[in-house]
Amino acid sequence: LLLHRTSISIIGCGHVGTACAYALLQNHLSRELILIDESEDRAKGEALDLRHAVPLGMPVKISVGTYKDAAASAIVILTAGPQEKFSGSRFNHMESNVSIVRECAAKLMAEGFNGVLLLVTNPVDVLTFIAQKESGLPVGQVIGTGTLIDSERLRSMIGTRLKVDARSVQITVIGEHGDSSVAVWNTAQVAGIPLELYPGAKSLPSREELLKAVHEAGPEVAHLKGNTCYAIASCVTRICEAILRDERSVLVVSTLLTGQYGLRDVCLSTPCVIGASGVETVLELHLDEAEHKALHHSAGLLQDAIAQLKK
Ligand SMILES: NC(=O)c1ccc[n+]([C@@H]2O[C@H](COP(=O)([O-])OP(=O)(O)OC[C@H]3O[C@@H](n4cnc5c(N)ncnc54)[C@H](O)[C@@H]3O)[C@@H](O)[C@H]2O)c1
Repeated sequence: LLLHRTSISIIGCGHVGTACAYALLQNHLSRELILIDESEDRAKGEALDLRHAVPLGMPVKISVGTYKDAAASAIVILTAGPQEKFSGSRFNHMESNVSIVRECAAKLMAEGFNGVLLLVTNPVDVLTFIAQKESGLPVGQVIGTGTLIDSERLRSMIGTRLKVDARSVQITVIGEHGDSSVAVWNTAQVAGIPLELYPGAKSLPSREELLKAVHEAGPEVAHLKGNTCYAIASCVTRICEAILRDERSVLVVSTLLTGQYGLRDVCLSTPCVIGASGVETVLELHLDEAEHKALHHSAGLLQDAIAQLKK
């Protein structure tokens, strides 16, 4: 029932926004999808193309909307802003993307938004922090996709190497969605078997090499095809599913820390219980000393970026 009363809005209909729209459409997660883009023609064109997919797919109403429409949605997904070039950093468009996020959050709040705001635009952890402060929404209602994608990439790499379904591989990556993310190796297992004991695990690249490959994955894809969109769309879809079905699933996402790991005033990823009101509980993993240090380093980079903005 909940599903049929909800709409999802997507602000930014570029590669990521439209891949999200298509994934949400195929998964029948809401009865209505509302698209907004700076270019109204682009939003119109994408809405039409998606609407033409409905007869052979799912009965979803797809429209181009306003901020008033978006504010009535259960979830607003923010993907507006250009993708960094493959050789660039996720921080490349920070100033302009901060302006976009401030503007979108202000417009949504002016229309009385009280749903979950899901940030995708990079640098996603900095923008999640800005969106939470700017909107004044309860902390749990502002979520960044964070290192869910880094974790999925690592699961995919390990599953491919071990010739086992990546869904049977567990490993959590936390911290900044970016070059300082931290793989928590005591969470690594295949169907309950500690990763290092799984048949063939000895042939895996070293932990350092695997994490480096995760850090390089986004730029590698963008170098080859000009953007990345499907993996992030599946992360967005999974988070929306947990919210709309009030699942209380544990997913690793970016959220404002309030003392976890000894950190506060920074958004970064850690496993969180996700239900109808967004992040309902922020969980802490057991980290070894090196991981703890690496997480604090990751948080420091994000705090420096935020401090730089305030000047
Ligand atoms: N968090 C992640 O893991 C992840 C993964 C992939 C991409 N991204 C990020 O997602 C963002 C979008 O990437 P993309 O490939 O879709 O870029 P894109 O250039 O294809 O699309 C961006 C869209 O945003 C629109 N836009 C710009 N300003 C706007 C505004 N003020 N209001 C409404 N729409 C606006 C543009 O018209 C364009 O359609 C980038 O910041 C990229 O880095 C994040």
